[in-house]
Amino acid sequence: MQFFLDTALLAEVEEAAALGVLDGVTTNPSLMAKAGVQDFDAHYRAIAALTAGPVSAEVVSTSYTDMIAEARHLARLAPNIVVKIPFTPEGVKALRTLQGEGIRTNCTLIFSPLQALIAAKAGATYVSPFIGRLDDIGHEGMNVIRQIRQIFDRYGFETKVLAASIRHPLHVLQAALEGADIATMPFSVMRQLFNHPLTDKGLAQFLADYEKLHASS
Ligand code: G3P
Repeated sequence: MQFFLDTALLAEVEEAAALGVLDGVTTNPSLMAKAGVQDFDAHYRAIAALTAGPVSAEVVSTSYTDMIAEARHLARLAPNIVVKIPFTPEGVKALRTLQGEGIRTNCTLIFSPLQALIAAKAGATYVSPFIGRLDDIGHEGMNVIRQIRQIFDRYGFETKVLAASIRHPLHVLQAALEGADIATMPFSVMRQLFNHPLTDKGLAQFLADYEKLHASS
């Protein structure tokens, strides 16, 4: 399973890359705004230079024609840019065209298995079901991952399942168990994956025992 970082903060991308567990990055216009980005193109190039993995850059156009023009522009910024396209009828049309042009896409704002099926039929490289936002409204986001996995396996779709809107480590675990290809997560969640109190306690004990031996010799 691949780990992507869901962020537009360069410092977080750098830190995750240094940990050696970063397989890619996803952004969206809200994350770009939160990071205070003004020059989107320069920022996408900067993120793309920090990882060899795919970097999702989202279109802000809504019509097919404008999405295609924007997607071509974004794809030219760096070889590892993947264009994020919202799941709308216009977006689905754009997925097929972009696939024909060899531009990789990430179909975002997926909330049902049937939306994912349509995006896969249209040639999306990735689909991004939003787990946390489904949980927020009392649905079980993980059911969507399970059903998408089942459908893609049954029909042999190569579209990757990218579990998004991840809020905590349990989401990552469940997505892994359900067979998601990728989990994209905030940096805070990625850091939490490393933590276990018994690891800390065990290490403290090992070091204390070593020190005792050292002190008495
Ligand atoms: O990037 C898409 C997705 O991960 C957004 O997550 O936390 O805004 O629901 P969230």
